[in-house]
Amino acid sequence: MAIQPSVLVLNGPNLNLLGTREPHIYGSETLDDIEASCQETAARLGLDIDFRQSNHEGELVTWIQEARGEHDAILINAGAYSHTSIAILDALQAVDLPVVEVHLSNIFRREPFRHHSHVSTVARGVICGFGSHGYILALEAVARLIDAPGAA
Ligand code: DQA
Repeated sequence: MAIQPSVLVLNGPNLNLLGTREPHIYGSETLDDIEASCQETAARLGLDIDFRQSNHEGELVTWIQEARGEHDAILINAGAYSHTSIAILDALQAVDLPVVEVHLSNIFRREPFRHHSHVSTVARGVICGFGSHGYILALEAVARLIDAPGAA
């Protein structure tokens, strides 16, 4: 069977707490639940995904650097690092893969410090405000960008 395109799905700090973390903002699904629905969606779209979470900026930077040659695109929810991390922005720029950004919450309806995302300056597109369903929408967008076999 032909090798399927591969997407690195990165989750930043505090996303390991989903399910119990401010459920009125982030919903009641856990990150494991989100990974399971991403795996189902990826199978439908003909994609392989490598789904990861870290609370450490440097670890996220290393994983982004290592994506070159290993993955065809990056789907990222960098959590609070979206708003602060030039290091993650630089890594995404250096690796030169299509990037799609996702946030569970609508960051533009929230505090002003969440309205700017460094990741957005390099992302091909951004999906926010649709809770965990945003990951599915983002994967569908990625599949189109990289011409996955099951892309609509
Ligand atoms: C988030 C939004 C960020 O502002 C926040 O720091 C997060 C989660 C989201 O998915 O809505 O940790 O990225």
